Amino acid sequence: MNKDQILSVKNLSKNFGGLRAIDNLSFSVKKGEIFSIIGPNGAGKSTLFNLITGFIAPTEGEIIFEGEDIAGLKPYQVARKKVGRTFQLTTLFFQNTVLENLIIGQQVTREAGYLQSMFGWKKRKEHYQQAIKRAQELAEFVGLSNYCNTAAALLPHGAQKQLSIGMVLAGDPDLILLDEPVGGMSMDEIDVVINLIKNIRKTNITVCLIEHKMSVVMNISDRILALNYGVKMAEDIPEVVCRNEQVIKSYLGDKYVVAS
Ligand SMILES: Nc1ncnc2c1ncn2[C@@H]1O[C@H](COP(=O)(O)OP(=O)(O)O)[C@@H](O)[C@H]1O
Ligand SMILES: [Mg+2]
Repeated sequence: MNKDQILSVKNLSKNFGGLRAIDNLSFSVKKGEIFSIIGPNGAGKSTLFNLITGFIAPTEGEIIFEGEDIAGLKPYQVARKKVGRTFQLTTLFFQNTVLENLIIGQQVTREAGYLQSMFGWKKRKEHYQQAIKRAQELAEFVGLSNYCNTAAALLPHGAQKQLSIGMVLAGDPDLILLDEPVGGMSMDEIDVVINLIKNIRKTNITVCLIEHKMSVVMNISDRILALNYGVKMAEDIPEVVCRNEQVIKSYLGDKYVVAS
């Protein structure tokens, strides 16, 4: 595998009964890039994330992450390899505060019972204090330092999305997969998340993004993968993908007018 690639998907297929949701798909993600996945509803975008993160097993094919085939591993095993993800519907511990969510997020990539059982009380206290400090840093990074003690359920929608991204970052990932992170947001909220994604990339985390809003995709992506019926239509820089006839015909239509 090419050394500047972090993820390489090879001949990946997933059948659901008679439906081929991912069809002999191959593509690569380079280290440090923002790589977006676009395509109509039902194209297989979320299925692709589910395959990469171990929530479903492939019918065929390889998923090479940092040189190792992770296809078929369980979600917790993939998470420990430092692949993090958010879901299309926000998943948080809604009764817990922002800070508590960001502490819980740090446990995901650790062995079970890390804080509870591995050390004596003194070490435990030290680790707990470190976890709080890290949670405060993360709250600041995702723009929620004013909400540290607010229950997640009481946050505005945009802030909940910011927190769900913070929880993934808490696992200290090398690659993060974001499934429609600006879905249902106002323009102001979208700007906050776009900036956050750009800041994530600055910390050397590679970002894969499923997104419908073309203004967002064209603004932040280094490269784009376009899918239709689980088949690759294009994999290239935004300027090329948005001029691809097949992509225009099956997805973009007149929704996105190329500014040139
Ligand atoms: N667990 C599942 N069982 C059966 N069919 C599924 C399952 N998950 C997704 N599909 C089907 O696979 C196709 C791709 O779905 P999905 O990956 O959710 O698309 P997208 O995220 O691009 O909108 C759809 O036709 C969907 O109905
Ligand atoms: Mg989806």
